[in-house]
Amino acid sequence: MTGSIRPRRSVLYMPGINQRALEKAKSLAADSLILDLEDSVAPDAKEAARNLVCTAVKNGGYGDREVIVRINGLDSGWGQDDLKAASVSGADGILIPKVGSAATLNAVADAMRAANAPETMQIWAMLETPHGILNAEEISALSADPSTNLTCLIMGTNDLLKETRTLFVPNRYPVLTWLSMAVLAARAYGLDIIDGVYNNFSDEEGLQKECNQGRALGFDGKTLIHPAQLALCNEIFTPSDDEIEWSRKILAAFQEPQNAGKGVITVEGQMVELLHAKIAERTVAIAQAIENRQQAAA
Ligand code: COA
Ligand code: MG
Repeated sequence: MTGSIRPRRSVLYMPGINQRALEKAKSLAADSLILDLEDSVAPDAKEAARNLVCTAVKNGGYGDREVIVRINGLDSGWGQDDLKAASVSGADGILIPKVGSAATLNAVADAMRAANAPETMQIWAMLETPHGILNAEEISALSADPSTNLTCLIMGTNDLLKETRTLFVPNRYPVLTWLSMAVLAARAYGLDIIDGVYNNFSDEEGLQKECNQGRALGFDGKTLIHPAQLALCNEIFTPSDDEIEWSRKILAAFQEPQNAGKGVITVEGQMVELLHAKIAERTVAIAQAIENRQQAAA
């Protein structure tokens, strides 16, 4: 089980035109990196950013951080060339912005095959438009289609606010339903899903609240925009010592001879069912995967 789990607690964006950030990312404690060619790059800089990003990825040095290139939409003037270049860059995956339907991702998968992308190259999809949320289920269902290597969904909350005319408020109640619909779709089809960004990178308290909320909503991690956000986010999306200890107790209790074959038992005065053992298994596995990564990086 551990082998199939990839921690994606912290997913850091950087503008593809920012060479210093591309370099700095090699030493940052992010689980995944998104090298952006889309919204953070001005139209005049699109081609230069594409070259910088693809060269950086080819040259490597990112260790076991997952490297994802966010391309411009295929219907933009740059998307087709971005996709061709990213497909053979050696990146772990390509992130598609503003995905509104499964058809968009099928076209991406076809274009990646035509561009000789490796079969293992992942597709990540941004949900950040009304259609993206309304069609989250058909988009997520592509994970069952082996010709489309969709592995992860990313919430694009800034675009979602813009498209829906909702307001940013600290507890995010205007968008909570959409966040939860997206999590539900991801879970229905076994995909990872990462929460949107918190723009005010000087506000640690606000970030902490949003990370805690994101974790409670079921997200696997959060997208970030600044290195200062990494430590807190990693901490919140790592199972706590108490959670790990409790999970181990549950697993050990089900192993005891007197509990063999039981579906429900008592642990420290609490009812624990086999479904809690499943949750505990995942908690222990993700904690182990995080520890393995930390040991490999040390
Ligand atoms: N990834 C990697 N490194 C980053 C970074 C990022 N997202 N953001 C900042 N850094 C680096 C800077 O290059 C600088 O490095 P240095 O100390 O080696 O010079 C250091 O971290 C401190 O940066 P700071 O001066 O505090 O920030 P800034 O004013 O240069 O940039 C932003 C602020 C918001 C413009 C910048 O963080 C950024 O571009 N974030 C990502 C935006 C993005 O990709 N948006 C698209 C998705 S929403
Ligand atoms: Mg966006």
